[in-house]
Amino acid sequence: MINKIITSRMQESDITQALKIWGEQYGRHCSSEAYPDHWKKNTREIEEFLKRKVESRTGIVAKLDNSLIGYLTYDEFPFNGEKSVFCPSIAHAAVEEYKEEAYLSLYKSISKEWVDTYIYNHMWTINYNDTKLRDILYDLGFGSYLIDAFTITDNKIYSNSPYEIRRAELQDVEILYSLVEESRQYYHSAPLFLKRDQSSKNEILEIIQKGNVFIAWEDNKAIGFINVSVSKRDNIIDLSVSNSGLIDEIGAYIQPEYRGKALGKELLKNVFDYCNKNDIKSVHVDFETGNLFANKFWRKYFNPMLISVRRTINKNIND
Ligand SMILES: CC(C)(COP(=O)(O)OP(=O)(O)OC[C@H]1O[C@@H](n2cnc3c(N)ncnc32)[C@H](O)[C@@H]1OP(=O)(O)O)[C@@H](O)C(=O)NCCC(=O)NCCS
Repeated sequence: MINKIITSRMQESDITQALKIWGEQYGRHCSSEAYPDHWKKNTREIEEFLKRKVESRTGIVAKLDNSLIGYLTYDEFPFNGEKSVFCPSIAHAAVEEYKEEAYLSLYKSISKEWVDTYIYNHMWTINYNDTKLRDILYDLGFGSYLIDAFTITDNKIYSNSPYEIRRAELQDVEILYSLVEESRQYYHSAPLFLKRDQSSKNEILEIIQKGNVFIAWEDNKAIGFINVSVSKRDNIIDLSVSNSGLIDEIGAYIQPEYRGKALGKELLKNVFDYCNKNDIKSVHVDFETGNLFANKFWRKYFNPMLISVRRTINKNIND
């Protein structure tokens, strides 16, 4: 079968069918009420994205008997300083009937181009519930990296931790700055090994001014925080939509000795209360699967919708 599939550059005339296949794939795997259904009805931005890929010749299609059964497009970018390619979830899809054959043909064809140009770090985002595609990619050598998850804010959280939680104020900038620095050390440590950019005190001040940081206190000691911002636009990469809550920027952090005592839950309850008061219906978070705490905590309250997987090719292959 795989020998009968022909891959070629994506053309503008392929886009209508590509969008149809993408929509079917999204509908099959993203149908919980926590997932934004916006993308089922609004495909204009995805169409624009694919048009740009046709123009930049960074898209290919797989055809069987002249009919399109799958497509794949990509962005090239430096990931932690390494030449890398990234295929977001809107950048690929295949018909269910020929899923394995289509994806294998697409990856075989495009990965040769990538490796020939010394791109050894390959990253894809796929629908979390698409276990068939996940198995195909894992057999190729991909592994989990990041999860995008969503929840609706009228999910109830019951919590009665003994700590006080207050909205951060301008005078808390020094305290928050040092907690954020502490969180950077945590991200840097084993087994996560994540390098995060340092935030300046001014940046922390701006985050506080937006008014959505909650700090937890034990008497006069700050022991943790959570930060939620409100999205101003639809995002075709993580599929969050305008006016949803985003746990981003400085995220959430609790000092080690206070973890596992329901404080994270209490902080999240403050975020949900804030969202409910401000007519925000859903919240998005992303977290590395190698983050042992985050990988357990967020799954309790959020539904994973997308998973990003990563493969690194042996660096001596072109020697
Ligand atoms: C992630 C974090 C904010 C969670 O806060 P926490 O106070 O430790 O979590 P809680 O005690 O409120 O736990 C809430 C629920 O998650 C579960 N949970 C939390 N951490 C867990 C772990 N490591 N293993 C298993 N379950 C865990 C708890 O069992 C609890 O479940 P329950 O409601 O059924 O009792 C905190 O551990 C932390 O700051 N970790 C380091 C920084 C980090 O990873 N930040 C997130 C970046 S994306």
